[in-house]
Amino acid sequence: MKTGYLAPEGFEEELERELEGVVSRFGRLFIADGPPQKVYWVQDVWFDPEIIPFSSVSEAARLLKERQKLWAYLPYQNIRRALLIKDKLAYFAPKPLPFPAPLPTSPLGSWTLIDANTLLAAAHCQTPFALGEVHFQENKRVPSRAYLKLWEFFLRTGFSPQPNEHCLELGASPGSWSWVLQGLGARVTAVDKAPLDPAIAVLPRITFLKKDAFSLNPDDFPDVDWVFSDLICAPEKLYAWLLPWLEAKPNTRFVCTLKFLGAADREVIEKFAKIDKSGICHLFHNKHELTWYRQG
Ligand SMILES: C[S@@+](CC[C@H](N)C(=O)[O-])C[C@H]1O[C@@H](n2cnc3c(N)ncnc32)[C@H](O)[C@@H]1O
Repeated sequence: MKTGYLAPEGFEEELERELEGVVSRFGRLFIADGPPQKVYWVQDVWFDPEIIPFSSVSEAARLLKERQKLWAYLPYQNIRRALLIKDKLAYFAPKPLPFPAPLPTSPLGSWTLIDANTLLAAAHCQTPFALGEVHFQENKRVPSRAYLKLWEFFLRTGFSPQPNEHCLELGASPGSWSWVLQGLGARVTAVDKAPLDPAIAVLPRITFLKKDAFSLNPDDFPDVDWVFSDLICAPEKLYAWLLPWLEAKPNTRFVCTLKFLGAADREVIEKFAKIDKSGICHLFHNKHELTWYRQG
């Protein structure tokens, strides 16, 4: 048994460091022995990828169609020939999603050409998004594109703040996460040393605290339902700050970006991973970051 792992663009080395038993690599796609491994720097997982020899474009398309109706194509080699095959498959061009939206439900396979006469294909993949890419209908008026991370997180997990819930947000400026949260009807306490964008600061249900996030204590926020952090800081520092909060607030949900300078520190990632009821993922909209969350 083998499994395919598609690295997020630019983070191939992070994935390679995590994977064991890699037997081959095709651009961003790594094939490793055995069932799926627990790795974080991955954009999609290809289950049971098959090597499929073929002699003509029509045959390649037929072999894919026999296995699955909808296919996402990963450009790698022999791209012109691959596009001829793609043209013979069922039309598939997913539109950017609005937010909120339900998760796509159509089964979707992924394929590429590894040479002129060989397909590499997996009829089942981990995410319902083509190549794990989550494209939204973007809002150009929001002060930063960071809001796409939260949209993607809420879409993927299916859980998000409810109207009137209280969200404490650390490192909130210029305010695109605050905009998302207040747009869901939540009350937001936005903390940053820098001010919010004026257009965000005037929105209802947003209270701004000009403070060092690391000076905040759990006792000062008795009714907090969610803690969000997009702070630029070492993950180790965030972890130390979080510990008393996790203990004091067992029912509070957390969503935090872990930002890395240079190679990601596996040791600190594992510390976050060990936190009870928590998970870690690399969102399509994350850069050199992972998203850690606790579901409360
Ligand atoms: C990536 S930006 C956050 C972007 C924000 N999520 C948005 O959607 O607009 C990180 C923010 O963390 C803030 N920050 C860094 N260290 C901080 C600290 N110790 N206390 C408060 N804010 C801090 C910075 O001022 C910066 O505004």
